[in-house]
Amino acid sequence: MKRTSTIIAYTAATLLTGAAAASSSTTAVAASCSSTLTASYAAPSVASGYVARLVANNLTKPRGIKFDSNGALLVVEQDVGITALNLADAGQGCISVSSRKTVINDATLNHGIELSADGNTLYASSPESVYSWAYSAQSQTNTSSPKTLVSNMTTSDHTTRTLLLPQHAPGLLVVTRGSTANIDPLAEDITTGHSQIKAFNLTNQTSTPYDFDTAGLLLGWGLRNDVGIAEEPLSGGLYSVENSVDQMSRLGVDIHQNNPGEEMNFLGYLNGTYSPNQGRNFGYPECYAAWNVSAIPEFNGTVGMQFAIGSLNSTDNDTTCDAANRQAPRLTFQAHMAPLDILFNAEGTAAWVTFHGSWDRTDPVGYKLSVVEFANGDAVDSSDSLTAAVDIVSNANQSACPTGCFRPVGLAWDRQGRLFMSSDATGEVYAILRDDGNRTSAAGSNATGTIPSATAGAGGAGGSSTASGSGTSGGASSTASAKSGAESVRMGWRGVVGGLGVVGGLLLGLMVV
Ligand SMILES: *[C@@H]1O[C@H](CO)[C@@H](O)[C@H](O)[C@H]1NC(C)=O
Ligand SMILES: *[C@@H]1O[C@H](CO)[C@@H](O)[C@H](O)[C@H]1NC(C)=O
Ligand SMILES: *[C@@H]1O[C@H](CO)[C@@H](O)[C@H](O)[C@H]1NC(C)=O
Ligand SMILES: *[C@@H]1O[C@H](CO)[C@@H](O)[C@H](O)[C@H]1NC(C)=O
Ligand SMILES: *[C@@H]1O[C@H](CO)[C@@H](O)[C@H](O)[C@H]1NC(C)=O
Ligand SMILES: *[C@@H]1O[C@H](CO)[C@@H](O)[C@H](O)[C@H]1NC(C)=O
Ligand SMILES: *[C@@H]1O[C@H](CO)[C@@H](O)[C@H](O)[C@H]1NC(C)=O
Ligand SMILES: *[C@@H]1O[C@H](CO)[C@@H](O)[C@H](O)[C@H]1NC(C)=O
Ligand SMILES: *[C@@H]1O[C@H](CO)[C@@H](O)[C@H](O)[C@H]1NC(C)=O
Ligand SMILES: *[C@@H]1O[C@H](CO)[C@@H](O)[C@H](O)[C@H]1NC(C)=O
Ligand SMILES: *[C@@H]1O[C@H](CO)[C@@H](O)[C@H](O)[C@H]1NC(C)=O
Ligand SMILES: *[C@@H]1O[C@H](CO)[C@@H](O)[C@H](O)[C@H]1NC(C)=O
Repeated sequence: MKRTSTIIAYTAATLLTGAAAASSSTTAVAASCSSTLTASYAAPSVASGYVARLVANNLTKPRGIKFDSNGALLVVEQDVGITALNLADAGQGCISVSSRKTVINDATLNHGIELSADGNTLYASSPESVYSWAYSAQSQTNTSSPKTLVSNMTTSDHTTRTLLLPQHAPGLLVVTRGSTANIDPLAEDITTGHSQIKAFNLTNQTSTPYDFDTAGLLLGWGLRNDVGIAEEPLSGGLYSVENSVDQMSRLGVDIHQNNPGEEMNFLGYLNGTYSPNQGRNFGYPECYAAWNVSAIPEFNGTVGMQFAIGSLNSTDNDTTCDAANRQAPRLTFQAHMAPLDILFNAEGTAAWVTFHGSWDRTDPVGYKLSVVEFANGDAVDSSDSLTAAVDIVSNANQSACPTGCFRPVGLAWDRQGRLFMSSDATGEVYAILRDDGNRTSAAGSNATGTIPSATAGAGGAGGSSTASGSGTSGGASSTASAKSGAESVRMGWRGVVGGLGVVGGLLLGLMVV
């Protein structure tokens, strides 16, 4: 670990530390604004040097967000469509919504959003398809009917299809697609398209629409549910963040409280250079990354190494999961935090990651915005790090989660380098500012922040999931998550958890609200 001086106490959201850096070219943000909204729950805890300002509320499950070329924030309201938020800026970081306009009225849209580099083509996704429209930022309307670009993605359990237009590979559209169950045996079959990330050529669209299962360049498979994906700006490397499995057991022992880790995966480059990671199998559904090594029976590896689920045998064991046979994550995060987005700053020194928060754990974890330090196109921490993600904005009282909590989802930079973040559960958008008025995008991960204890909120091994009722692990609806438990029970596949019938039944009872 390189960080030594970063354990800094949290400050309340609207209380500045008084330690604003001397600066001639920036203006410190105001401690409060006449426009500032107040959340119905405890104000977020914010790392020293930052301010989290609530700028919009009363949205319907805001997910992916993106600024258009005129500075309006386009928001996917899940099961509603796309809304443009016009923002007023009174200076000193006093940002508010001046007006809202419905751009696309389509209740099938649920997460993914992108804009072409010129701002004139809008992309969004439903569980089944990816669409594009000609878009006018001036009138905030689509000026064409939707074109279906990619289709034939099935619609159960993990239904978000995140979109990315990589700047280093113009003309390619990257689409992530998760599994159709907690443990999805079809993901073992490369032809199904389940749990895969692919890139599709829009410059020469050779079929309209592309069939996700059969077309496109495979960037990776065995990726359970990589809801977040981003391009590292210096190298063009693609990094995704993965929601790993729930209710895990191994050799008859329930290890789900602190295993497996959530993942940050490196998917290689799109510029034509062969990358050994590109197109590899990343492990799911046989192999998972270790977080709490000591809790995994008969595991001889370290944090971040992959290990086999269930009963080990002559075909599925830890050798099957080793680096030669499956691509391990670049970094691992605490189990069940549910990373949903990743976004780099332009300098390539920081990757911001939203954690939607846990349901499959006695003590809630996640529910925060963190940052991971990068340098030279790669994460700074080694792959066995327990402290790669440094917290910047979190809920003051995590035991109130998921009901009395914001739940981070989508991220976007505005033109001034301020970071915007949606929270679906609370229908809100926050702006994350530096209290000295500097660009949030200028801050590296270790400029400030708090390294969480790797044991934070550690529940006892073998506990059942009693704490948090509704909630999703990475983009599924709560009913779908419940279904995934039910499907695991029904299939009895891989002996997921000893006594899963009991736990799964408990989950069903809790989660169908
Ligand atoms: C903004 O932050 C960057 C990176 O930390 C720093 O180099 C720069 O001096 C800061 N600018 C101001 C005006 O404080
Ligand atoms: C919230 O938004 C709805 C439309 O989605 C609107 O009818 C309602 O008046 C808004 N409520 C407040 C308090 O702004
Ligand atoms: C805009 O998109 C909507 C929904 O996809 C569609 O119904 C409408 O016809 C489009 N408008 C134009 C001008 O094509
Ligand atoms: C587009 O791709 C098709 C199929 O690969 C190929 O036949 C065609 O020549 C390509 N068009 C261009 C303009 O490259
Ligand atoms: C997309 O296809 C076109 C036509 O075949 C090709 O010229 C171009 O290089 C492809 N784009 C990428 C990013 O591979
Ligand atoms: C969808 O996939 C199925 C199974 O691979 C295939 O039979 C069907 O033709 C595909 N449909 C479309 C519209 O591509
Ligand atoms: C592709 O990107 C990698 C990483 O930045 C770089 O090492 C390589 O030279 C690039 N290849 C081409 C053909 O530009
Ligand atoms: C771990 O190492 C021990 C001692 O070498 C060995 O007996 C055991 O089989 C190993 N476990 C696995 C899963 O490889
Ligand atoms: C582990 O599985 C591999 C196949 O993935 C097999 O070759 C190997 O023999 C197995 N090891 C043991 C100890 O059963
Ligand atoms: C983080 O701190 C280390 C050592 O203190 C330093 O080398 C590195 O440049 C810093 N990174 C950023 C992004 O500030
Ligand atoms: C890891 O697991 C062990 C054994 O179950 C437990 O005692 C310990 O508290 C856990 N530590 C963390 C960091 O989760
Ligand atoms: C090993 O276990 C897996 C899953 O539990 C099963 O699908 C597979 O058939 C088993 N292999 C053998 C040789 O028993």
